[in-house]
Amino acid sequence: MSDRYAVIGNPVAHSKSPFIHAEFAAQTGQDLVYERILVPLDGFKAAVDAFRAEGGLGLNVTLPFKLEAFAIAHECGVRARDAQAVNTLKFEGPAIYGDNTDGVGLVRDIEANLAFPIEGRRVLMMGAGGAAQGSLSVLLDARPGRLVIANRTVEKAERLAERLRADRGLLPELLSASSYPALLGEEFDLIVNSTSASLNDTVPDLPTGVFARDCLAYDMMYGKGMTAFLETALSQGAARLADGIGMLVEQAAESFFIWRGVRPQTAPVIAALKAR
Ligand code: ATR
Repeated sequence: MSDRYAVIGNPVAHSKSPFIHAEFAAQTGQDLVYERILVPLDGFKAAVDAFRAEGGLGLNVTLPFKLEAFAIAHECGVRARDAQAVNTLKFEGPAIYGDNTDGVGLVRDIEANLAFPIEGRRVLMMGAGGAAQGSLSVLLDARPGRLVIANRTVEKAERLAERLRADRGLLPELLSASSYPALLGEEFDLIVNSTSASLNDTVPDLPTGVFARDCLAYDMMYGKGMTAFLETALSQGAARLADGIGMLVEQAAESFFIWRGVRPQTAPVIAALKAR
């Protein structure tokens, strides 16, 4: 029987992970099946236990269960501890290992696929929710010259920046929090939109001038075409635009590596998803 993996969440019908992992398995000759598991909001732990009891070897965890997944993991990788959230579970006998591959997915897409080195660049993270929290520590590992977290609820960005500064011994010159209006007069080389505003096709109000001339504007949202954020970036002169398809495939590749010890090629899968 093939080894079993799945994505677990609510909702989960839209997930492209089964397609991505089937492509990875075919490409690398790994004998596995990858399913979708929709669970009720109060049924995460029971569903994980049932999947393990049936011999399942690993799960990708999506909204809204990443914090619960962090709580049930017996052992966590540093990226999951930094994010305080888990998107990848691996089952080894009685042990549950948790990791978070979202940040690596984002940074690999930006640096390797989009050929945009982050080191020394001025970076703006829009949003301070789960999506931002999941990737900020890996973004900081890429050594930006400066990183600002902007959020509608500024206190949330401040708490996040404070925690990361304390964990890493960073100065406010390197990592700080801001409201959107207070960004007036600032300029960034990379602007990442992690807000859920794109779901409603809106965008937080960014002051004119924040997109530097060679700026890469990156929307973590995918499958929505030109989001309001990307439209704004384009109209304000950002040189390059990207959506989150590459991040999605790269985070999946890192999960695949954690489970199988094999690194699949991501470029053909990104191309296949874009073509669909
Ligand atoms: P996720 O896990 O997807 O990040 P979340 O934790 O609910 O979801 O966070 C959503 C993020 O999008 C937050 O930063 C939120 O800002 P607040 O903390 O102020 O709520 C941001 N967001 C959502 N809708 C927004 C909007 N219309 N304008 C600005 N920010 C918005």
